[in-house]
Amino acid sequence: MWDILTKSCIGASFMTVFSQEEIDQLASSMESQTPQQIITWAVETFSPQISVSSSFQAQSVPLLHMVSRIDPEILVFFLDTGLHFWETLMFRERLQREFGLHIQNLYLDKQWKNFIERFGRKLYDQDPDLCCYIRKVQPMQRAMQTVRAWITGIRRDQTANRHNAKILELERDGLLKINPLLNWTRQDVQNYTCEHNLPVHPLFEKGYRSIGCKPCTRAVRQDEDERAGRWSGKGKTECGLHTEMFNQDGPGKSALLNGFLLNPNQDENQ
Ligand code: ADX
Ligand code: SF4
Repeated sequence: MWDILTKSCIGASFMTVFSQEEIDQLASSMESQTPQQIITWAVETFSPQISVSSSFQAQSVPLLHMVSRIDPEILVFFLDTGLHFWETLMFRERLQREFGLHIQNLYLDKQWKNFIERFGRKLYDQDPDLCCYIRKVQPMQRAMQTVRAWITGIRRDQTANRHNAKILELERDGLLKINPLLNWTRQDVQNYTCEHNLPVHPLFEKGYRSIGCKPCTRAVRQDEDERAGRWSGKGKTECGLHTEMFNQDGPGKSALLNGFLLNPNQDENQ
């Protein structure tokens, strides 16, 4: 692995260029590494052009803890959709203080102002994919234009889509996505949290084991999957940050958006 890395370096580490073949080889050699080893490699290779994204939910804490210990200066992106539980926002403040995080909040683009004023409060029910595109995917795409590498907290045991993910993935515009926790399980997250005596999201004990925006999250029973409360009943399991949507240039087909663009001034109830 390190031979491949050395051969690939061109000048400063942030100028490192990898071919798809090298990325695949590196990714498979990382399958047997710990998350800390993968993060250390990522930071040594890309710092300061590297960031981590976090939803500051129950599952987020170990990654934030590890990353902040390996690179205390690393930038943490948080998508502030405007629809989070207040407990999540308080938890973000607590982790920022306790871990010394450098957080940058990301917001939806101003271009959506009129559309969101009209449909924003119902968009998550009427067209949740479009809602996630506007509030999460597009702001993250823009933020990622400022770095070369992106550390995320996805795990293979979370969704069918994530089951097929790789530890290193080449995304749009040459961005390298790094998923150091891919082989971890829910139990690993709990063990790490206990071993390091880390803070727990205030909603976790109330049955919220995976937490996103408030309108799209419910508590789950003990016998349910950890993510059963995400977009429950909406036929959706991913926001789009970790699917092909992230590499698209627009929101895709949306009857709601098309109708609005054709007639922006029409009252929706007419
Ligand atoms: S989601 O697609 O279901 O919402 P999940 O909560 O599992 O995602 O988080 C998986 C990864 O997606 C996180 O580790 C983080 O990298 C990214 N992510 C999800 N939501 C956010 C958010 N609000 N802000 C920043 N990153 C996020
Ligand atoms: Fe909208 Fe729900 Fe996606 Fe949040 S999770 S951006 S509220 S659809």
